[in-house]
Amino acid sequence: MNQENIAVITGGASGIGLSATNRFLKEGYEVIIIDSNKKAGKKLEKDLKSKGYTLIFKHCDISSYQQVKEVFKSLKNDNKTPNVLVNSAGISPGLNMLHKYPVDEWHKAIEINLNGTFYSCREFLKLAINKKIKSGAIVNVASIMGVRASGAQASYAASKHAVVGLTKSIGIEYAPLNIRANAVGPGVIDTPMNTELMKDKKIMQFLLSRIPNNRIATPDEVANLIFFLASSEASYITGSYYPVDGGYLAT
Ligand SMILES: NC(=O)c1ccc[n+]([C@@H]2O[C@H](COP(=O)([O-])OP(=O)(O)OC[C@H]3O[C@@H](n4cnc5c(N)ncnc54)[C@H](O)[C@@H]3O)[C@@H](O)[C@H]2O)c1
Repeated sequence: MNQENIAVITGGASGIGLSATNRFLKEGYEVIIIDSNKKAGKKLEKDLKSKGYTLIFKHCDISSYQQVKEVFKSLKNDNKTPNVLVNSAGISPGLNMLHKYPVDEWHKAIEINLNGTFYSCREFLKLAINKKIKSGAIVNVASIMGVRASGAQASYAASKHAVVGLTKSIGIEYAPLNIRANAVGPGVIDTPMNTELMKDKKIMQFLLSRIPNNRIATPDEVANLIFFLASSEASYITGSYYPVDGGYLAT
């Protein structure tokens, strides 16, 4: 295995992260999944290994800096130097007006969506610099809520706007070291995160009326963009944000 083709994917056990995992594996990468869902991660590891893929599952809550640090320390000890990091782990917090917003839910959204993304970027970059990698790429999964907002979703919008800002900063800081960083902004995607939402015909009708493509996307359509941005095909693309939203942000 070429040591340069190792991707770490947070949230790789479900939805967009899972599609990205499958894509990177098919493209010949070794994949390390970081996910807090132990059962799903273990099962995936077993299933994909039985198909001949090289996949390692690391059970970890990305909102714990200590846990994220331990994961990257174990990679270093095992002489694994990832050249790609995809941050897909995230939550969609409950909807509420700001003056009624549960403070602990606010913290949870920021701790997972923003701080968790920061922790894994930090440890990935630290290892990459320590091992003097020649090139690398980070793709952070933000959201359309990374550049716009909608009512009752302040914690989500704040966390995803911050992820876009974090990504731009990394793009600037690490360009001289040939490590690129970009964010993607999915619109409405058919993943377990939206299982409940998709049951609500009224909300779906409203959402579809605002999406020029008039449908929601598959997670593979997001993984296509993630893979492109991580690949050498995107060698001059860094510090940017790319929506994958069926035209939503254009309206
Ligand atoms: N589905 C959408 O419509 C949509 C739209 C825009 C952005 N996004 C973003 O895409 C990303 C992936 O979402 P998805 O739809 O695939 O959701 P999902 O719920 O299917 O997958 C999220 C994964 O992240 C993991 N995870 C959650 N919290 C974690 C933590 N603290 N530590 C480690 N792992 C954790 C979960 O176990 C799960 O495997 C999220 O960041 C989400 O905000 C999703």
